[in-house]
Amino acid sequence: MGRITSACVEKILDSVRIEEVVGDFVQLKKSGSSFRGLSPFSQEKTPSFYVVPSKQIFKDFSSGKGGSAVTFLMEHEQMTYPDALRWLAKKYNIEIEEEASSEEADEARNMRESLLSVNAFAAKQFSQWMWEDALGRSIGFAYFRERGFTEETIRRFELGYHLEGRSTFFDTAIAAGYQAVYLAGTGLSIAREDGSHVDRFWGRAMFPIHSLGGRIVGFGGRVLKKEAKTAKYLNSPESEIYHKSRVLYGLFQAKQSIARADRCYLVEGYTDVISLSQAGVQNVVSSSGTALTLDQIRLIKRLTEHVTLLYDGDAAGIRASFRGIDLLLEEGMLVRAVPLPEGEDPDTLAQSMKAEALEAYLRDKEVDFIQFKADTLATEAGTDPIRRADMVKDIVGSIAKIPNAILREVYLRDTSSRLGIEERSLFAEMDRLRAADIRASERERQRQAPEAPALVVAPAPAIDQRPPAIEEALMRILLLYAENRISGMDEEGNPYTDAAGSIILDDLATDDLTFSFPAYNEIHLVMDRTWKEEERLLTAEVFSRHPEPAIASVVAELLTERYVLADWKRKNIFIQTPEDHLTPHVEECLYRFKELRLSEMIIALKNELEETQDAQQRLALLQRFTALQGVRNALHKKLNRVL
Ligand code: CTP
Ligand code: MN
Repeated sequence: MGRITSACVEKILDSVRIEEVVGDFVQLKKSGSSFRGLSPFSQEKTPSFYVVPSKQIFKDFSSGKGGSAVTFLMEHEQMTYPDALRWLAKKYNIEIEEEASSEEADEARNMRESLLSVNAFAAKQFSQWMWEDALGRSIGFAYFRERGFTEETIRRFELGYHLEGRSTFFDTAIAAGYQAVYLAGTGLSIAREDGSHVDRFWGRAMFPIHSLGGRIVGFGGRVLKKEAKTAKYLNSPESEIYHKSRVLYGLFQAKQSIARADRCYLVEGYTDVISLSQAGVQNVVSSSGTALTLDQIRLIKRLTEHVTLLYDGDAAGIRASFRGIDLLLEEGMLVRAVPLPEGEDPDTLAQSMKAEALEAYLRDKEVDFIQFKADTLATEAGTDPIRRADMVKDIVGSIAKIPNAILREVYLRDTSSRLGIEERSLFAEMDRLRAADIRASERERQRQAPEAPALVVAPAPAIDQRPPAIEEALMRILLLYAENRISGMDEEGNPYTDAAGSIILDDLATDDLTFSFPAYNEIHLVMDRTWKEEERLLTAEVFSRHPEPAIASVVAELLTERYVLADWKRKNIFIQTPEDHLTPHVEECLYRFKELRLSEMIIALKNELEETQDAQQRLALLQRFTALQGVRNALHKKLNRVL
């Protein structure tokens, strides 16, 4: 039996009516909008067992157990989590979907292999048409020769020509024994609704795109007729084997030169790569007209940390290079650029001079990225003070991305003297930007990280173990009132308004604080991760479905409590809830929470002090002790102000 897919788990949980499930085992009586019954977990005479349909939870006040329908089955019937899910699926006639077995994995591998072999056949066919077919020679081959590519270059990059006709390639491939489904799968042919197929690239000059290992994963096709109204280049669509964002054109041919030269030239187009390579600059790759991606940068980083950008001399090319620069810097790459004359691209430049001249040009004109950016922007901004201020921000913004602190400082000092702006204000601006960037890049890193299981199961606490009161208060706000807006004054006296959950999560993250109660700690970790990754605040309802009974139970308890309170309010019995005065309540809870953590640290330090004999060590400990007490005193003052 395979693992149930998460989509299927969601489907089951969405279909379940907890009152029906529990009703199979416990006699329930309707009471308002909830159900009540005698606890099935203990011997009782007055019912204290609640089921709340609107929340899909149960709570048993006599045993303390609570949670979802799944939790109920696990507790009452001693089922495992998957067994409970299967039981529910059966009750609600839901078909169980399991994760791909190894058989299906084999099938996927065969699919990829089939697509790759279609591409290999296609590249051979296109090159045969170009070298041997009369039309292919007079149109395709002639075109490449006109562009100055030698026969050796044409072979090296496996260039070819796709004959004209509605389905010339498709028919040829079918005749050679390839299946229509794979021809369409690579995007070389397009399946029509009437069942016929048309070729995507007909009449185009073909540029095969290789994986790092040299297999052909896709194609670029350039139109040859000047008057044609279609896009100049067409590219293979995304497929099982072609992920545009993870491929660099030319990398297969360039990888050895890049490692040997310890430098990679980055250009925009297919022909830029080919012409430079032909002119002896073989360590060159292209992102093929799209913005550089993280995956592409990491491909390069395996070979070298030195990247030199060679983008078109026009405004669009320069702007594109600026975008590329920041991502490269962020990944710790050392970036330079060679500004090109207006109207030139690396292809025309390489075709216009001899190999030695080109090499000298690239060597002599190469500038550090910051110099490149500052010079370009300074020319654009002129003496306009507002535009100059924007320019400074822009440059500092790039520097702020560099992970290495020393390098950042060197660049900042350099910029200061280059632009005649005080170092101090540049550093201040950078600190501001880095603080803002940290959350964004953290999110990005999390996104890139291999998928972690959505919910990690925490060790179950003993049933009688209660959380510290202040942790419970803070968790109550996080679970029940995270989305309620609160407004107040921050430490500098600036007014703020934000969701309570975001304020608490950010505040805890700043001081690296966590919950000590295991179930709370787990909930907090998941909340924090979702907040950082997706800027989404998770609610109690999400956690009431948690597979770990200890967590589902904690959440069910808080949800039932709110439900009961709301019910009382409806009946005009007024009790104060945190909701009624949320801002001071949040502030107070945060202070008290920090106070608790601080006290723990102070106690730990005291113990350490008692056991330490060494005078030097004692002095250090004492200093920390005094510092912590200072922090605690400051905290007490704030607490008094709030209360
Ligand atoms: N590109 C694309 N689709 C387009 C235009 C461009 O995919 N409609 C990509 C191609 O990878 C191209 C690169 O962007 O190589 C750069 O575009 P451009 O500078 O316009 O093309 P060149 O490489 O200069 O092409 P050529 O010299 O053949 O005109
Ligand atoms: Mn060009």
